[in-house]
Amino acid sequence: MNGMPARQTRVIRVDPAHPDPNALVDAAHRLRDGGLVVFPTETVYGLGANALDVTAVRGIFEAKGRPSTDPLIVHMADASDLPSLVRDVPEAVGPLTARFWPGPLTLILPKQPHVPGEVTAGLDTVAVRVPAHPVARALIAAAGRPVAAPSANRFSRPSPTEAAHVLADLDGRVDIVIDAGRTDIGVESTVLDLSVHPPLVRRPGGVSVDAIRTILPDVQVMSRVSDAGEAQVSPGQLLRHYAPRARMTLVEGEQHAAAARLLTEARARLAQGVRIGILAPAEDAATVSDALGDAVADAQVTVRTFGSRAEPAQAARELFDAIRAIDAAGPDEILAIAPAPEGIGLAIHDRLTRAAEGRVLR
Ligand code: TXA
Ligand code: MG
Repeated sequence: MNGMPARQTRVIRVDPAHPDPNALVDAAHRLRDGGLVVFPTETVYGLGANALDVTAVRGIFEAKGRPSTDPLIVHMADASDLPSLVRDVPEAVGPLTARFWPGPLTLILPKQPHVPGEVTAGLDTVAVRVPAHPVARALIAAAGRPVAAPSANRFSRPSPTEAAHVLADLDGRVDIVIDAGRTDIGVESTVLDLSVHPPLVRRPGGVSVDAIRTILPDVQVMSRVSDAGEAQVSPGQLLRHYAPRARMTLVEGEQHAAAARLLTEARARLAQGVRIGILAPAEDAATVSDALGDAVADAQVTVRTFGSRAEPAQAARELFDAIRAIDAAGPDEILAIAPAPEGIGLAIHDRLTRAAEGRVLR
């Protein structure tokens, strides 16, 4: 285990809507004592540590195998904790937090000097959010500390939306896993940088860009891949992320065009004896399965759906589980279709582009 001391991982099950405060007491103590506690948020599970305890924060990077150059989000119980972590609170913060907190919006702001550089990867800014999940809020309030928490997956793996995903990646590497079932949104928070002008969405997520634009009309969105198809390099924004073990290619486009292109690609690979996995919204998956009938029956093709084009919120909720499941089927290669990049679909599209490490067919 890379020389990391093994931890005894304890799983605590709680009711997601009405967590028993007594059940969270031990977890809150572990956070205060410098332990690593995985907890549910409304987006994905987070791997938490006391954000003001440098040793505990280093433990997060060690448990995940995450490079220390990738900064963490600090989770607060309440928006009123903001001035204790952030130096300047620009005017836009009031309406943004009134509308979106608690919820899946992370704000990047100038940090207070006492926020450790280990949390921010040495940057002068800190990412903060108030999660909406009752368990997350109760835990952070009980700990009485801001909680630094990245998604609770091993580095470059898909984010966890249920406790089983967390244990597959982190059993023996964290102290406690609080299991409250499946998370509701399924993709991570929207990361909005307010330390630059104009404000910049660095990661699309649970809050749509259109919703932010109603408050910040000049907001910009960072494009993941340049026109030349190269990865954009900025702090912590590595292209390789969410990646399955098998190589993935993303097919983009309107439903019929995308399914047709995927079929062409699939047939070319099948002719060479390559075993493929197909990851697509239900409508696209149905078309493709019908057309590939025999190969599906022969298990040369495994098909896994996530939600439907008509219900992008459901697609978001099921996305990471579907990536893990298709990978577990062990195909040589995965072909994926993304729903339209609108609303929460933009976040789905972003995650699939990164899972495909930028291999996108249009
Ligand atoms: O929904 C979420 O945001 C989940 C849950 C657990 O809250 N957390 C999460 O954390 O997704 P993580 O560490 O997997 O992603 C945090 C993102 C990274 O892309 C990181 O580079 C960016 O936020 N980030 C954090 N601090 C930053 C900063 N000061 N400047 C720029 N980007 C920052
Ligand atoms: Mg992550």
